[in-house]
Amino acid sequence: MAAARGVSETIEPAAHLVWAPQPGPQMDLLRCPVPDILYGGSRGGGKTDALLGDWAAHAGRSGGHARGIMIRRTMPQLEEIIMRSRELYSPLGARWLAAAKSWLMPDGSYLRMRWMERDADADQYQGHSYDWIGIDEAGGFADPAPIDKMRATMRSAHKVPCVMRLTANPGGPGHQWIKERYVLPAKPRVPHYDPVRRVWRVYIPSRVQDNRALLDSDPGYIDRIKSSGPAWLVRAWLDGDWDASAGDIFFTREILLQDGLPAPLPRRIDYVFAVVDTALKDGLEHDGTAVLYCGRDSLGADRLWWIDWDVLQIEGALLDQWLPTVERRLEALALECQARNGSSGIWIEDKASGIVLLQQAQRMGLQVHAIPGNLTAMGKDGRALNASPHVYQGKVKFAAGAYDKITTYREVSRNHLLSQVTGYRLGAKTPHGMDLLDCATYSVAIGLGNSDGY
Ligand SMILES: Nc1ncnc2c1ncn2[C@@H]1O[C@H](COP(=O)(O)OP(=O)(O)OP(=O)(O)O)[C@@H](O)[C@H]1O
Ligand SMILES: [Mg+2]
Repeated sequence: MAAARGVSETIEPAAHLVWAPQPGPQMDLLRCPVPDILYGGSRGGGKTDALLGDWAAHAGRSGGHARGIMIRRTMPQLEEIIMRSRELYSPLGARWLAAAKSWLMPDGSYLRMRWMERDADADQYQGHSYDWIGIDEAGGFADPAPIDKMRATMRSAHKVPCVMRLTANPGGPGHQWIKERYVLPAKPRVPHYDPVRRVWRVYIPSRVQDNRALLDSDPGYIDRIKSSGPAWLVRAWLDGDWDASAGDIFFTREILLQDGLPAPLPRRIDYVFAVVDTALKDGLEHDGTAVLYCGRDSLGADRLWWIDWDVLQIEGALLDQWLPTVERRLEALALECQARNGSSGIWIEDKASGIVLLQQAQRMGLQVHAIPGNLTAMGKDGRALNASPHVYQGKVKFAAGAYDKITTYREVSRNHLLSQVTGYRLGAKTPHGMDLLDCATYSVAIGLGNSDGY
């Protein structure tokens, strides 16, 4: 079988080659005939590159008939893979069709590049036909349902073999179902048959040590991963260990303190802001309403402080009367912390009761912002993973006001922010009333930006 021009399935470095799989797992993937493959394990193991190379090789064998789709969870993640695909496919003579967000390979094969933020987005592909489906970071899908819907599109009118390739690291929101489908049934590299879905599967593990290209060009990579999460998650990421997870503390108290104590605020900071979470659960009863007050400084320590918080049970109809008190508290904090730029306002989830509250607040002239939809769509686990590198690089700290505070909520007196944040477990069903945890992970994304955490 002929490989696509410029993409080799073997390792014969030649001047005209644009990309070749590295020896080891990448090469195994490109040569593997099993129709459903999980590739990956450790961070930086060359997963994304392997997927891009696999498509090119697949297309090259199809006589121009291949129809593929490459999926990532969010738009920014997709942009990243599109950028890399340009480096690999443009030199092959493929054309990027920007409006269609698709690649037209020189022989006519066609690859769509799509993101799938919500599980329901998979419905729009009903009736499509694909013979190659690549899902990069499938661990970002807490539920396999959208991936199964995509599987239902697999067919080829031209007898091109239909294949699906997933990549994932342990420790993501989809950890459990991926482990059950691909990792537990057989040893790595041993194909196994799933009689329910009538498909052969195999798990091809890859480690960062297999990615010489990365380690040679970026020797600090492993150290950066080491400071991106709790110890058990770092082990999962570096060793590709699917057992090292679940049930372990994600945000430890120690990492949110400085030498065991709340971190002092500097004499001046950049600005303060607040995150409000007003969840309306099951449409009947108002859950708690939580607010977290934060301070951000980039000149000195490049840090985010949790300065104060509150959680209360408020009637939905009274939220608009409560919100101005949040603004006044922010103004007071801005003065107290000598915030150079004052308050940047209140951030509110743009869903459920938050939608109405945002409108009311705007009418009242309060400084409010809708939390970006992509952050909401990430879900609890996605946001925790996104916050993780910032937290474990020591950029997020309790200030004394937030650490020493104890309030009574639903008849429990304690530091609710501390107990919710340190009580969070990745992948575990979180009970109702984790509103301060939501505020906390939102605050990290709002104050410090998206990380490359996931
Ligand atoms: N076959 C290859 N040839 C050249 N460079 C490669 C190859 N495979 C990987 N790389 C390099 O290694 C880098 C990291 O690889 P890649 O992004 O595929 O890893 P990953 O497992 O997807 O990482 P992450 O866990 O961060 O998503 C790539 O950006 C690329 O520069
Ligand atoms: Mg990747």
